[in-house]
Amino acid sequence: MTNKRIAPSVLAADFGNLQRDIEMINNSEADWFHIDIMDGVFVPNISYGMPVLQAIAKHAKKPLDVHLMIVEPDRYIKEFAALGADILSVHYEACTHLHRTLQAIKKEGMKAGVALNPHSSVDLLEDVINDIDLVLVMSVNPGFGGQSFIENTFEKVKRLREMIERKGAATMIEVDGGVTDKNAAKLVATGADVLVAGSFVFKAQDPPQTIKELKSLVNKEQ
Ligand code: DX5
Ligand code: ZN
Repeated sequence: MTNKRIAPSVLAADFGNLQRDIEMINNSEADWFHIDIMDGVFVPNISYGMPVLQAIAKHAKKPLDVHLMIVEPDRYIKEFAALGADILSVHYEACTHLHRTLQAIKKEGMKAGVALNPHSSVDLLEDVINDIDLVLVMSVNPGFGGQSFIENTFEKVKRLREMIERKGAATMIEVDGGVTDKNAAKLVATGADVLVAGSFVFKAQDPPQTIKELKSLVNKEQ
């Protein structure tokens, strides 16, 4: 039995009906809430910040997978822990002292994740992979939902999986951006453990049914 996870991205939810959409995820087969925090500096867009995360956390009954697309993430680690983040991912490209940042995240009791932009090689993580709980492989340039999937991601996931095995690490691989029923099965076959899906879930006619189908697609015996 495989246990591949689906993490709907709240960025694509209807913010006028946020509680309704959170309850939909609670009652669906989704595994985690994916929460995108953007600062308008690291990425050319601003999403939402602490008060909205607090509102999500109040109703969410599944782990909060928080993806920080911000500069100087170290400044906010304690605050995200206090708000209830279970997994906190920082961008490789935003951290000068990544090893130190990872230890600080774990010290606050969270799982430590590292996100990689499409141009960043997985080889950059070779010396720190055993300290990382989750690598978030960006399959679009971060900043916006609804973009198309970058095909080179399959190759990256494959090389990252090889590295994790070679190093005897327990790191999970999450893929984020442009995930649909067209690439999901191949992503898990290549080595991904968790798939983020924003538009594909929330723009669907029947989001809980879409989550269910995606979940069974990625958990079919390979
Ligand atoms: C992009 C975000 C993604 C985004 C995914 O910067 O990190 O999590 O919400 O949305 P879709 O699935 O629509 O590409
Ligand atoms: Zn994300």
